[in-house]
Amino acid sequence: TPRAIIAPSILASDFGKLSQECTTVIKQHGADWLHIDIMDGHFVPNITIGAPVVTCIRKDIEKEVVTHSNGEKVTKGFFDCHMMVAEPQRWIEDFKKAGCDLYCFHYEAADASQNPHTPPVQLIKDIHKLGMKAGIAVKPGTSVDVLWDILANEKEGEGRPDMVLVMTVEPGFGGQKFMHECMPKVAALREKYPDLDIEVDGGLGLSTIDTAAEAGANVIVAGTAVFGADSPGEVVAQLRAAVDS
Ligand code: DX5
Ligand code: ZN
Repeated sequence: TPRAIIAPSILASDFGKLSQECTTVIKQHGADWLHIDIMDGHFVPNITIGAPVVTCIRKDIEKEVVTHSNGEKVTKGFFDCHMMVAEPQRWIEDFKKAGCDLYCFHYEAADASQNPHTPPVQLIKDIHKLGMKAGIAVKPGTSVDVLWDILANEKEGEGRPDMVLVMTVEPGFGGQKFMHECMPKVAALREKYPDLDIEVDGGLGLSTIDTAAEAGANVIVAGTAVFGADSPGEVVAQLRAAVDS
């Protein structure tokens, strides 16, 4: 399994002082990425923020490449944008301009049954062309079987995703209960792709991290568990230790 990447979800932070919260969670609490939840009120029944707000926080957060003892590199301050939007193809340029590093769209929104739609592989190519990493997310009810053909693209230029996000709650809100039944999907992905970044999102915290780590997840999103903690730095460290041990 690749190294742990701890990505606090800023959805659980105080939006009134968002930029400060982001800086603190990285500089003081030791987080790696920022998980930025973008919701459009269509794909999910909630609205959060758009590219203009991402632009503002990008101004205050510099990126820094850190090399671990085993030689693996992690970029601190990397913006992991989780796009819970009905038309993911529509926002890629805006998000690139705003400073997004990884554009993670939902398979369900890029699926051929949607209209208008851009198929996942085309979307991944478009995201890569703009110089961002591409992620593909699946809701709890979506089988990983939809991903095998997409993951079979071996080269970046062919539309290979850089990360898969296995949702462990129904997307839309923070603070929900972790769904253990999603773990076989993580295990199936890890078995076939030992080096893939596999992200889990929803209900992750000290009581659920071991299950997720055992299944093979390495990119850990945590909103409430980090921002709601008395000692966020200890939570970040413990999440990391559970994955890296
Ligand atoms: C839910 C979002 C999550 C959420 C996680 O739709 O994608 O990123 O903020 O929050 P917690 O960690 O509180 O479940
Ligand atoms: Zn998310």
